[in-house]
Amino acid sequence: MIQEIKSHIKEVEAFASEEMQQIEEFRIKYLGKKGILNDFFKVFKEVPNNEKKEFGKTLNQLKDLATNKVNNLKEAIESKQEEKGIYGDLTRPAEPAGIGSRHPISIVKNQIIEIFANIGFNVSEGPEIEDDWHNFTALNLPEHHPARDMQDTFFVQRDPKDILLRTHTSSVQVRYMEENQPPIRTISPGRVFRNEDISARSHCIFHQVEGLYIDKNVSFSDLKQTLLYFTKQLFGKSKIRLRPSYFPFTEPSAEVDIYWGLETETDYRITKGTGWLEIMGCGMVDPNVLKNCKIDPEKYSGFAFGMGIERIAMLLYQIGDIRMFYENDIRFLEQFKSSI
Ligand code: PHE
Repeated sequence: MIQEIKSHIKEVEAFASEEMQQIEEFRIKYLGKKGILNDFFKVFKEVPNNEKKEFGKTLNQLKDLATNKVNNLKEAIESKQEEKGIYGDLTRPAEPAGIGSRHPISIVKNQIIEIFANIGFNVSEGPEIEDDWHNFTALNLPEHHPARDMQDTFFVQRDPKDILLRTHTSSVQVRYMEENQPPIRTISPGRVFRNEDISARSHCIFHQVEGLYIDKNVSFSDLKQTLLYFTKQLFGKSKIRLRPSYFPFTEPSAEVDIYWGLETETDYRITKGTGWLEIMGCGMVDPNVLKNCKIDPEKYSGFAFGMGIERIAMLLYQIGDIRMFYENDIRFLEQFKSSI
C-alpha cells in the first residue's frame, strides 16, 4: 500500500494545469470527502502496526503535497488575472493610431502663403501681445482717433502705457518696415483678437493674412493685378471689384469683392442674392504710415491688404459656423486632408 501512496505522490508532483476547473477536479480527486486521501485514512486502522509509522508519514507527505499543489496552481492563476487587471488583455490587438490631419485654418493659410510666395512675398511674424504704437499709432491711428473703436480691443494693461492683444496683423507690417528698407514684399499670417460677441459669423479670436508691397512706383493697378492673381489662384474666380472704403492706414482704401456666381441655392444664400462676396480690405499705404516707419514717402509707395482666414476657409469649404474651427471635434477636422 505504501507503494501505492508513493505512486500517487509522483502523480501529484507531475500534475500541472492553468485551468481552474482541472485544478478543482484534481483537488476533489485527492482532498475531497470521497477523495483518495480519505480512502487511505479510512484503512489506516487495518495497517499492521509495524508499518503504521511509515504509512502515516507517507500519507501525510501526499496530503501536504496535494494541498500545496492546489494552492500554488490557484494562486498562479489569480495573480495572472491581477496582471490582466493592470495591463488589460495583453494579447488584444493594439488600438489603431490614427493619422492626424491639418487644421483647415492651417491648410488655407498655407495655400495663401504659397500663392504669394510664387510672386516673391516672404512670410513675417510678430508678437500677439502688442504695444499701442505697433497696433495703432504707427498705423495712423493716434490716441482718441474714432477708428480705434472699430477694433474692439482687448487690453492687457492700460497704465503706464497700453499693452493689448493685437487686433490685426498690420502690427507685424509696422515691425517689418521698421527693420527693413524697400523693396518690401511680405505677408503676415497670424492670430488676432477682438472683443466681439461669439456667433456663427464672428469670433473673438481669428486669423488674418495681411500683405504689404513697398517699392518705387507702386500703383493702385499693381494692387488690383496682385489681387486678381490671388483670387484666380485660390478660388478659381477671375472677376473682382473694388469698392471705396476707409482704413486709417491706407489712402485710398477699398473693399475687395469676388464674383462668386449665382448657380446654386447656396450661392444665393451666401451672396444674399447678389453673386458678390466681400473677401478683404486693401489700399495704398498712407504716407504717414511710411513716415512713422522711417520709409521716405517721396521715394516709395506701396499697397497693403488684409483678409480673415476663417472667412476664406468658410467660403472654400462651405462651412456655415465659424465656431466649428475651434471646437476640435474630430469628426469635423477629419474631413480635411491636404498635402499642404
Ligand atoms: N488691418 C485691416 C483689418 O484688420 C485690414 C487691412 C489691411 C485693410 C491692410 C487695408 C489694408 O481689418
